[in-house]
Amino acid sequence: MKTAGGAAGAKRRAGERAAREVEDGFVVGLGTGSTTAYAIEAIGELVADGLEIQGIPTSYQSRQLALEVGIPLTSLDAVENVDLAIDGADQVVDDPDSPAHGALIKGGGAAHTREKLVDAAAGRFVVVADPSKLADRLERSVPLEVLPAAHSVVADRVRDLGGEPSLREAERKDGPIVTDNGNLVLDCEFGPIDDPDELASTLSSVPGVVEHGLFVDLADATYVGTDDGVEAREY
Ligand code: A5P
Repeated sequence: MKTAGGAAGAKRRAGERAAREVEDGFVVGLGTGSTTAYAIEAIGELVADGLEIQGIPTSYQSRQLALEVGIPLTSLDAVENVDLAIDGADQVVDDPDSPAHGALIKGGGAAHTREKLVDAAAGRFVVVADPSKLADRLERSVPLEVLPAAHSVVADRVRDLGGEPSLREAERKDGPIVTDNGNLVLDCEFGPIDDPDELASTLSSVPGVVEHGLFVDLADATYVGTDDGVEAREY
């Protein structure tokens, strides 16, 4: 078993805790990112020990990792239901007095469109996070996956809404990043978001937006890895 301290240790503990929810016969949504990767590895160990499940990956990354650790894969259109989805987040509202308690920003890895599809289809959606992801309200930039031909008109609309869009640049490729679905990503700064539900509805209505990274009223629980354990939030 890997040992990891700091944020990596917290992520590992959260991922391993979520993996313990997987039961024989389950169809499991496999999220994307460094925290969920620990869950996928832990599920792989359970499969090696005889657990029979099927996974639905949400990205090229999670598909590759699932294949490496031996998780049998399926797809949304081949199953009747998804029992559990496990996924990371870039920010989580962690204020029980807020109407947005448990709302998320996702898409730091540009995988939020397929993540939302799978997470929303799941009977139970569990978020895995380290404490750096927790906030009283959402304030990180909101990723929008946009059709390539639409990026400039969507950027104009975001400015009309008071946001500041920037086309996400690739790091080891010239030009913008291209998602697993062949689209582009606009990272949109709106400042502190008082009503994520309202902003989510507005962004969904913009032509050319394939999906935005606000996940409102979707998560059932968050496991927060800490220095020496895991804290659970149920919504
Ligand atoms: C992928 O696009 C994202 O939604 C990830 O789930 C999110 O960025 C969390 O990733 P980490 O666990 O690596 O922080």
